[in-house]
Amino acid sequence: MGVYAITGSASGIGAATRARLTAAGHDVIGVDRADQEVNADLATSDGRAAVVAAVTKRCNGQLDGLVTAAGVGPPFDPAEMVSINYFGTEAILTGLRSVLAAANGAQVVALCSNSVTITPNVPTDIVDGCVNGDEAAARHAAQVNGIGAYAYAASKIGIARYVRTHAPGEDWAGSNIRLNAIAPGATMTPLTQSGLDSDEVGEAMRSLPIPTGEFAQPDQIAGWIEHMLTGVGASFMCGSIVFVDGGSDALIRPDAIPPLFELDL
Ligand code: NAI
Repeated sequence: MGVYAITGSASGIGAATRARLTAAGHDVIGVDRADQEVNADLATSDGRAAVVAAVTKRCNGQLDGLVTAAGVGPPFDPAEMVSINYFGTEAILTGLRSVLAAANGAQVVALCSNSVTITPNVPTDIVDGCVNGDEAAARHAAQVNGIGAYAYAASKIGIARYVRTHAPGEDWAGSNIRLNAIAPGATMTPLTQSGLDSDEVGEAMRSLPIPTGEFAQPDQIAGWIEHMLTGVGASFMCGSIVFVDGGSDALIRPDAIPPLFELDL
């Protein structure tokens, strides 16, 4: 049995993942704002550092897996959203990398979103701020733009880029850590409910086409996360962004995969 840390473990997808891992006999170090083993605010650098220190101590320097599920969505403040979703995730992934390496075979699943492919016109300056590690610039761009759906998609594009950039490298795959992301579609959680209840994105969320029918339940996403952590073949997955979205991405962008590219040969 392993030791797994889960951010955002008090609610929704994180809580459902926690329940699955606990039921399977694993030890879970939950991280959230309150009521978990580690309580801190991932919007702040002090909170992020406290999480890294507390998880490192609780796992005795060796962590078998990590799920980064803490996050917020519209109508949350766009700049805060970027801080929590991207920089709160990046700091935990980077800060816990060495204890993951110590497990020699750790699995990591970051929460991305299908918003990364189905949101048109995402402002590149928010994405650039994330990718460049410039929190002030990313926050400023999100605040000036002011549209929560864009800040949300940009923060998750940042996560996808982090995973794709780091997963195959010496520090991750080369240190026997598998780093992947899951990109869920609309899932019925408090985050989704607050969006549905808002004037800002409620109508857009209700009109999102989902070929399979309903929004997902959190356990339907948690089941995939558990498989990506502990399932047969998980160790061959590296740098993947796994879409589990009821077909919305396939419906909206049927020709987008595989992207064609050219080489001078
Ligand atoms: P949720 O609202 O049920 O759970 C999110 C958890 O993150 C909460 O327990 C919350 O307290 C915690 N959190 C938020 N800000 C925090 C902070 N500053 N510090 C520490 N903890 C904080 O949301 P849900 O839906 O379970 O979302 C989990 C992840 O899945 C998020 O990253 C979200 O962006 C992502 N996601 C959700 C989708 C959905 O439709 N619900 C779809 C695609 C991705």
